[in-house]
Amino acid sequence: MGRLFIFEHGVYVMQEKIKNIKTLAELQALYAEVFGKNGTMTAKLKQMKDLDNDARAALNRENMELRELFKTRQAEIETAVMMAALESQRLDVSLNPLPENRGTIHPLTQSLSDIAIILESFGYEMWTGPEIEDDWHNFTALNTPEYHPARDMQDSFFLENGNVMRTQTSAIQIRSMEKTGAPIKMFGIGATYRKEMDATHSPMFHQIEGLYIDKNITMSDLIADVREFLKRFFEMDDIKLRIRPSYFPFTEPSIEIDMMWRDNKWLEIMGAGMVHPNVLRNCNINPDEYQGFAFGFGWDRLAMLKYGLNDIRQFYDGDVRWLRATGF
Ligand code: DAH
Repeated sequence: MGRLFIFEHGVYVMQEKIKNIKTLAELQALYAEVFGKNGTMTAKLKQMKDLDNDARAALNRENMELRELFKTRQAEIETAVMMAALESQRLDVSLNPLPENRGTIHPLTQSLSDIAIILESFGYEMWTGPEIEDDWHNFTALNTPEYHPARDMQDSFFLENGNVMRTQTSAIQIRSMEKTGAPIKMFGIGATYRKEMDATHSPMFHQIEGLYIDKNITMSDLIADVREFLKRFFEMDDIKLRIRPSYFPFTEPSIEIDMMWRDNKWLEIMGAGMVHPNVLRNCNINPDEYQGFAFGFGWDRLAMLKYGLNDIRQFYDGDVRWLRATGF
């Protein structure tokens, strides 16, 4: 207790004073009163040289003790200020959250996923290709050389350098055959472009294209795969198809496949046929050894039928309300 006695009263009083201070500004003012130029402690320290050893030691201790008291209080006040700030900014987590606003799967994405699962389960492998195509892949290799009247079947967007915005995913069959040769079982997917625009036509739309080349592949294999594919895609137990002769330059014979829809109406679903020997030759496949079929359909169109949509342009409007209403 000797120590208390020595720095005594002065320190004790200061201790109480410091403890009662609530703000940094007041603390600084008091500090200046003690340690400032004309501060009480400053004055005492100036007279240190006149003191005996014990008194000097006591003064030193008092000095140090006081400084420590200021430092401690400063830290306390700073903490209190911070705690008050945190308290005033506290988040009220009891508030109900805003209604959840989740994205929805686009009907095209959903239908592609359905289509891919079915075709892959039949052993078809998914391929993509460039949307800007050269003449060879989009037309010539598909047995549609320049000046072939069938080029008029598709109103194309040409680029200045002679390339074309892909008018059909059939270009992807050429690329896949060139790359892997025969046998091959693939389907190509992607955007296609034509100069058309109304409720059922958009200048940009999507196609899906199947191709199966091997030894002894026949038209019956084609019809079997298409029938099973449509049954699964539309989730129908039974399905009625109508096969009509048609014309495409890259298939011989060529057919179109219609399907009986719910209201007993025939709907045109896809074009197909046995791949023309010229097309196989163009891809370095020997048509005497290999043959096969191809089929192509509008991916948007199939999705519209399945989900009961009536305007193809809605797929590309990016209207979130419409997407939400489609309900995926
Ligand atoms: N490419 C054709 C079109 O755009 C669709 C088509 C028809 C693709 C017959 C084929 C096919 O593979 O065999 O109209």
